Amino acid sequence: MQVIHTISELRQALAGISQRAFVPTMGSLHDGHLALVRQGRAAVGEGGAVIASIFVNRLQFAPHEDFDRYPRTLERDAGLLAGAGCDYVFAPAEGELYPETQGYKLHPPSELSDILEGHFRPGFFIGVCTVVAKLFNIVQPSIALFGKKDYQQLMVLRRMVAQMALPIEIIAGETQRSAEGLALSSRNAYLSEAERSEALRLSQTLKTLIARWQAGERDLAKMEAEANQHLRAHGWQPDYVTLRRQHDLGVAVEGQPLVALAAAKLGATRLIDNLEA
Ligand code: PAF
Repeated sequence: MQVIHTISELRQALAGISQRAFVPTMGSLHDGHLALVRQGRAAVGEGGAVIASIFVNRLQFAPHEDFDRYPRTLERDAGLLAGAGCDYVFAPAEGELYPETQGYKLHPPSELSDILEGHFRPGFFIGVCTVVAKLFNIVQPSIALFGKKDYQQLMVLRRMVAQMALPIEIIAGETQRSAEGLALSSRNAYLSEAERSEALRLSQTLKTLIARWQAGERDLAKMEAEANQHLRAHGWQPDYVTLRRQHDLGVAVEGQPLVALAAAKLGATRLIDNLEA
């Protein structure tokens, strides 16, 4: 496996390889990322290339967020990627990807990107779409893999690829969880031991929301308010706990596939999770 830091070297290394599976990451890798790499390997076979990028993208962080303290663990990550069957790690310095202020940005439609995560993190999806589009131009993958843990991100990026007619198949990876049910996330590294066990409450709250809907309750406003209240009572600061339809994260309606989503702060750490119903 090769670790490459420049666009020109990566392009050279990939010349002549048509099947390319790409896993964009911000590093601090866990089994969720490695499962995507393995999925990519299986999809392109031995003749293809699996590329992972590691780049903490300043554009998707608000000034008060954790850009500076986001864990940067390139050596450890490279070892994990090699073990999972990755061929190339693209780890550009900030000046390589953004040699000048990135004035051209990709703005996803407001109805997809100003709700939920986008409501609480204004500009987040502009940053994500801009960097992912740029990485797609550099890597030119045939397939790209994203985890369902970032459910809205996956939806926004699928639409971007469709609307911009990019010749890339987007593949979704299932959320990987600890044995107790905690969704794996790079930000779990911020949690204390006590917070780590409390963090399980987030997915349990989503399960309860889905169970109530499946049992026939339909007063969503009440159910969501109670879920928020439940988290608050245990020391969380929830941004949202909600049941939506999977397709576009619009209002949940009978007979359509649904997903329960939540984002909440536990201490200084903001966690997100979702469960498909
Ligand atoms: O999901 C992430 O880690 C990031 O949002 C991504 C897709 C790598 C873009 O920076």
